[in-house]
Amino acid sequence: MKIKKAIFPVAGLGSRFLPATKAIPKEMLPIVDKPLIQYAVEEALDAGVEQMIFVTGRTKNAIMDHFDKAYELETELEQRNKDALLEIVRSIVPEHVSCIYIRQAEALGLGHAVLCAEPAVDKEPVAVILADDLIDGGKQACLSQMVKLYDKHNCSVLGVETVPHKETEKYGVVSFDESEGVTKVTGIVEKPKPEDAPSNLAVVGRYVLTPEIFNILKTTGKGAGGEIQLTDAIAELLRKETVLAHAFTGKRYDCGSKLGYLQANVEYAFKHDELSQAFKNYLSGIDLVN
Ligand code: G1P
Repeated sequence: MKIKKAIFPVAGLGSRFLPATKAIPKEMLPIVDKPLIQYAVEEALDAGVEQMIFVTGRTKNAIMDHFDKAYELETELEQRNKDALLEIVRSIVPEHVSCIYIRQAEALGLGHAVLCAEPAVDKEPVAVILADDLIDGGKQACLSQMVKLYDKHNCSVLGVETVPHKETEKYGVVSFDESEGVTKVTGIVEKPKPEDAPSNLAVVGRYVLTPEIFNILKTTGKGAGGEIQLTDAIAELLRKETVLAHAFTGKRYDCGSKLGYLQANVEYAFKHDELSQAFKNYLSGIDLVN
């Protein structure tokens, strides 16, 4: 079965970016001129996803508005003959794509957020994208790389990256077996201390999961941080089915942290069609002492 649906858990508080995220979702923070959540949706589109399922919470209305038709804005741009801007606004969601919003009343953890999407997924394999992990896959987007692997092996695939050992406490970390020409996940732990981590291969915010994950999540109890963890459900999934890890080609920016967010802005500005040269000139002339 093809991957046609993606879940975007967007109910988090975004407390690391307060006060910016007091009234707007952290997923709406822009990297140069585009909100993080739009990069995530574009990555899903590139992988062939046709149904975007957002698991939302309080203060997330801006996300719904962003992917909705904006009649007033479009009329205004039309009247002023701003054709290029009109095209940008209109092309955010292609016509064949639908958006579904499910409200997660309580932020009980990533596993719980994914389970909230079950009625919309309806026994299909599904992608999960965490928008604050922004990934520039270069020639092929990270999720597309993973879907290719899913299509070949018909099993769950986790996006992974090697991280410094001292940072394992920020991630789900896997143990693995490479003896069969693929990276099979043999175990996974949520946020282990460096001394307890099975490796330094960490899960980034990209998952392709078979529908069995929902059955497991229904009975997954609270784990690390007192939350229902997707990682714990995957630990059980891999006892029943093959789960592969995919070390993606590309670069990840941890936009859940201020430093990662700023790095993404600088590097995307460097690559931006209109901005690139002026931004480089500005940076090379900047007086760093003052
Ligand atoms: C979540 C997952 C974790 C994963 C990480 C990737 O953690 O629980 O397993 O490694 O995303 O960014 P969070 O960053 O939401 O604490």
